[in-house]
Amino acid sequence: MNKFLAVICMIVSASCYAGAINITSPDGHVAVEVGVDSAGTPFYNVRFVGERVIDDSHLGFNLVDNVDLKDDFEIIGDSCGSFDEIWRPVWGEEAEIRSNYNEALLRLRQRSTGRLVDLRFRVFNDGVGFRYEFPSPQTALQCFVVADELTEFAIPCDAVAYWIPGDYDSQEFNYTRCRMSEISSKMEEAHVGGPVYPSPFSDTGVQTALMLKYDSGLYVNLHEAALYDYPALCLDLDEESNTFRAALTPFANGDKAIMQIGDTTPWRTVIVSDDARDILASRITLNLNEPCRIEDTSWIKPVKYIGVWWEMITGVKSWNYTDDINSVEIGLTDYTALKPNGRHGAETSNVLRYIDFAARHGFDAVLVEGWNEGWEDQATSLKYKIFSFTRPYPDFDIDRIRDYAASKGVSLMMHHETGSAVLDYERVLDEAFRFMVDNSYHSVKGGYIGQLLPRGEHHYSQQMVSHYQHVLEKAADYHIMFNAHEAVRPTGVSRTWPNLIGNESARGSEYHAFSGIKPEHTAILPFTRLIGGPMDYTPGLFENDISKYNPYRSAWVNSTLANQLSLYVTMASPLQMAADLPETYERFLDAFQFIKDVALDWDKSVYLEAEPMEYVTVARKAKGSENWFVGSTGGAEPRKSKIDFSFLPEGRKYIAKIYRDGKKAHYRTAPQDYIIETKTVDASSRMTLPVASGGGYAMSLTPIQ
Ligand code: NOJ
Ligand code: CA
Repeated sequence: MNKFLAVICMIVSASCYAGAINITSPDGHVAVEVGVDSAGTPFYNVRFVGERVIDDSHLGFNLVDNVDLKDDFEIIGDSCGSFDEIWRPVWGEEAEIRSNYNEALLRLRQRSTGRLVDLRFRVFNDGVGFRYEFPSPQTALQCFVVADELTEFAIPCDAVAYWIPGDYDSQEFNYTRCRMSEISSKMEEAHVGGPVYPSPFSDTGVQTALMLKYDSGLYVNLHEAALYDYPALCLDLDEESNTFRAALTPFANGDKAIMQIGDTTPWRTVIVSDDARDILASRITLNLNEPCRIEDTSWIKPVKYIGVWWEMITGVKSWNYTDDINSVEIGLTDYTALKPNGRHGAETSNVLRYIDFAARHGFDAVLVEGWNEGWEDQATSLKYKIFSFTRPYPDFDIDRIRDYAASKGVSLMMHHETGSAVLDYERVLDEAFRFMVDNSYHSVKGGYIGQLLPRGEHHYSQQMVSHYQHVLEKAADYHIMFNAHEAVRPTGVSRTWPNLIGNESARGSEYHAFSGIKPEHTAILPFTRLIGGPMDYTPGLFENDISKYNPYRSAWVNSTLANQLSLYVTMASPLQMAADLPETYERFLDAFQFIKDVALDWDKSVYLEAEPMEYVTVARKAKGSENWFVGSTGGAEPRKSKIDFSFLPEGRKYIAKIYRDGKKAHYRTAPQDYIIETKTVDASSRMTLPVASGGGYAMSLTPIQ
């Protein structure tokens, strides 16, 4: 570990009104100017090898019932330093991560009020992070309410944007690719097939992580890092100035954030390169988060799992135990007096069947949804949603299931669907986690479907961001690994709290069974959603025709089978599900072998090919092993993937087992056309492989002894 912090520059003399300082990255490629203009308004700009990435952009805040923090500032001091460290994540794409940046702190004072605000900028070789800090003590400022954050990102061209609508309650949209100037005209279409919440949004609002491509060939990614106790960031495009402005998720009354001195905002991040692969290889988001806060991490382990789940998602089985409760009855009841509906997924013998399958094929865990009382109320979509997190339905024999799973060496994964009744969940959280510990559950999938209670509040507000964090930290106290669905998109928090082994927070594979997923979806997620951390995408769908499971549901999985396999490598996550039904995997045991073999944690990742929404190809070395895995995920257009194997060590031969699209493969017409072949390769090998429309390939590489 090489770590040092040194003051290397003092550029601006104190107490000048307008002025600026320059900071460059350690390799000199990224340059930032930050200062105050003649009105005393803070601003910054970013360049990459001389090219403008972000033009002059304002910084500041409007406050509720107070003088705004947006102008009349003078610079009263600055300090600069540099930092170089190698750290080891508990899990991830690499065993070692380098954090190397130059930093500047600009100290500002508002002349009329005497209030102090600091701006901290960190400039890495692959981009920039900056945040606001409110120094303490100071007398002119104490507590304040943010009406609007005024951070801007002035984009110097009409870039191509890859975006989803700036919704405050859902991230589960298909992506749209268009010029920035076309965003407003595409907004209505971008909502089609998305979740419907009464969430206010503007027709120029988009979510982060936002991916952009400039005509010059620059790739730029805008997001945030270390989001704690602050609302999640959306960006609203001012079309006239071609500038994105911060649009924070509001409280129900419209206020954005409640702050006090000593607080900092999350980092605003700009990742930039002329090579799309560098965006995927960037570790800025993690590097801007604090080191691990959990002392003993021995209980945090990658999890490969199956679940009593796809049966419910496809509508074959139900989460609820009974149909006796109709939409007028609300609240928990005596379930033993009610008639089972005969379609209950979490019924004991069905769960035992999944445990057997998991044990036979070497899976770590089985998720069981619909095990607990309360789903009937959920199904009614009424005002009150009350799940029990400690009372199993009468046909879920928890003692028998727990003991059987233990005897087979399989873990159980808990499910806590809150129905967004968050206050109720917080009230019973200790009981719920204690119940898990008592019944040998080591991980939990959380859920926040539906509108929030209390009504009018949004999923990504300051209060909810703090709620998810509270649950995560409380889970750590109980040595529980956490994976929340519908929670706020991650921002690298898993560096500090590595028990956050996954999150959904985007349109997951379940939408293949609902309103549909575009075939290019998984070729953009690594550039957007995954910038903040791993996703519980739930891949492994081998049966494309959902009506084969449920004749009343017409839906199609828009992906080839080989593409599904590639996702285990391209969408890195220590938590991976094999989402389809056991009986389907029995039909394709040769392809299923890849899901059984693939690693979940990595020593090294080498990005071989990348273009947003078109393709991602990556080679990864399994942690603590000599085995490598390669995944290539394509988009809507068929292509040829050309790779070389120079990532392998010299002089060593490997058996490559390749799972790829067959000649006729196409996500719509022949998704199950795949070929499995073996070849011998070494560091000098080259390969050209076909990728079908909605296709891909996966490869395992085992050294020849
Ligand atoms: C939505 C989640 O994404 C899905 O995985 C889960 O099964 C349902 N909510 C029910 O909790
Ligand atoms: Ca979901």
